[in-house]
Amino acid sequence: MATYLITGIAGFIGSALARAVLAQGDQVRGIDNLSTGKRENIGEIEDRIDFQEADLLELDAVQRACEGVDYVLHQAAIPSVPRSIKNPVESNRANVDATVNVLVAARDAKVKRVVYAASSSAYGDTSTLPKHEDMPPNPISPYAVAKLASEYYMTSFYRCYGLETVSLRYFNIFGPRQDPGSPYSGVLAKFISQMLRGETPTILGDGKQSRDFTYIDNAVAANLLACKAPANQAAGRVFNVATGKRFDLNETASLLKKLTGYSGEVKYGAERAGDVKHSLADLTRSEKFLGYRPQIAFEEGLRRTVEWYKDQRTAPNVSRDAVEVSAG
Ligand code: UD1
Repeated sequence: MATYLITGIAGFIGSALARAVLAQGDQVRGIDNLSTGKRENIGEIEDRIDFQEADLLELDAVQRACEGVDYVLHQAAIPSVPRSIKNPVESNRANVDATVNVLVAARDAKVKRVVYAASSSAYGDTSTLPKHEDMPPNPISPYAVAKLASEYYMTSFYRCYGLETVSLRYFNIFGPRQDPGSPYSGVLAKFISQMLRGETPTILGDGKQSRDFTYIDNAVAANLLACKAPANQAAGRVFNVATGKRFDLNETASLLKKLTGYSGEVKYGAERAGDVKHSLADLTRSEKFLGYRPQIAFEEGLRRTVEWYKDQRTAPNVSRDAVEVSAG
């Protein structure tokens, strides 16, 4: 039985990983400072995991958390391109300094492998699509720079100390439990929750920007594969994690209207600073070296996600007010 440390375990990706690791019969330890994560995301598994509420910027706490660990799944981050534009210092601390602490602690604890939640934002605006890992990165926002810097740290720790690291460039992960309630929330969580409440969503720009939206189960599968892929194929490397298809926001909003039953209009607002126009992944490398293939298509993922948000609104044990407030 292996022990996995999941940083950011109370987040929507971290908590999904925790459930998957438990399901395969392994042990889970989690660390989270609950700044963007929520305890309710791990509520149903809290008695089966070793949860430590702590900040990754405290090296001692990370060192304690790494003791006896086989694999680290480093998911903790402060996401959002606009949030990083507003507060680049905060973004750098959470997305770079914290990563260096995780790497130092993992190295000293002789962890077998660290898998990192890198970001497709590292590519920035490239004229070529799909985006493949050998392309020179071209980050636009502070968030993208921070995520890329942490990737470089991953590779550096492999090269300098022999710590096995794998960076997974996530392409717009979405699914159940993604927080819809912040101005910085991902567009799908936000639009679904707005449409279900009968509120008008706003597309920022002309809606022709496109994303390779990726359902959470695909990201979970990629992490588990990344832990087990042979070191000579995976260690010190970067891999795309995506669906391999892109949808623009106009067509996405139409799909969501059908799934949510929203019959109102969709507004248009000013394009966001630091926004990438198009995003689409080449999955050749992840398939060849990790054995990764997306299992859940975008439309199916959207359907499951909308169902989950609908259930949250009607579940008898969840007060409707609580959902309204957290979704606000
Ligand atoms: C970026 C990364 C993604 C990462 C995420 C973390 C890229 C291509 N993707 O996502 O991998 O996981 O940061 O935060 O860099 N939008 C609206 N209306 C809204 C909100 C957003 O139209 O109310 C638009 C945005 O302008 C953007 C698109 O929706 O064009 C997606 O935005 P968002 O969900 O915030 O994610 P990215 O910034 O693309």
